[in-house]
Amino acid sequence: MAIDMEIPEEVRRRLGAARRVVAFTGAGVSKESGLDTFRDAGGVWQQVRPEEMATPEAFRRHPGRVWRWYAARYRRAAGARPNPAHRALARWETLFPSFTLVTQNVDGLHQRAGSRETLELHGTIAWARCHSCGRRREMGEAVRESPEEPPACACGGLFRPAVVWFGELLPEEVLARASEAAARADLFVSVGTSATVYPAAGLIELAHRAGACLIEVNPEPTPFSRLAALRLAAAAGEALPRLTEEIETCRRSTT
Ligand code: OAD
Repeated sequence: MAIDMEIPEEVRRRLGAARRVVAFTGAGVSKESGLDTFRDAGGVWQQVRPEEMATPEAFRRHPGRVWRWYAARYRRAAGARPNPAHRALARWETLFPSFTLVTQNVDGLHQRAGSRETLELHGTIAWARCHSCGRRREMGEAVRESPEEPPACACGGLFRPAVVWFGELLPEEVLARASEAAARADLFVSVGTSATVYPAAGLIELAHRAGACLIEVNPEPTPFSRLAALRLAAAAGEALPRLTEEIETCRRSTT
């Protein structure tokens, strides 16, 4: 399906002039790498109930079950490859004077596509950390050593994936930096997220209130679609390379 890239003149002007840009991504950006989203048909939260797998209480009750499920997710993420959407966003670092990539994803695909700094709001599956003392070790090594049960830490606690679970706080400094970038952004591009999980989704509203031009890339509408100056209703792997070309054209004609 051809993407409708008809970009209003005012948005072209904003793309050409943008100085402080934020891209905010969700599971949809990794869909074309073969990783499931959470809330689409057949998505992760239709396969398991989040309260049985992604909460501290679930880990306390069934540490082995939770560990094995995350071990499988780790292996899938490690075996996946970045797609053209991740690669396009890695290039955005060179397109604007200031660029901040904020992701809700834990799969590490932005970094593997070449993004140098990524604010991971929901942590990362590349690392495990002790649920008691916070010590960290590589998830791959932990899973190889102990595929069935969470390995024990020297402190006596258990290792868990270094992701944020429901009922837990987001990493404070990461959220602070993401909020600051959103509040200062003149262009904010939301990609592949249902924009329903807070506080992450609040960044969109923060940027919009501060006057950013909002672009949404998602085949389906979201609660924030009505605020978007431009909506690209297409898969990220197709839309982002095209949008990147348009941005380059707009910036060449501005300078
Ligand atoms: P969701 O599963 O809620 O939303 C994925 C979005 O991606 C949907 O709006 C889809 O329409 C869209 N989508 C699907 N395929 C796409 C494609 N090829 N290109 C672009 N968009 C596509 O995932 P998130 O919004 O990331 O948190 O979910 C947010 C948080 O909820 C996750 O970080 C996770 C989850 O519970 C935690 O685990 C803490």
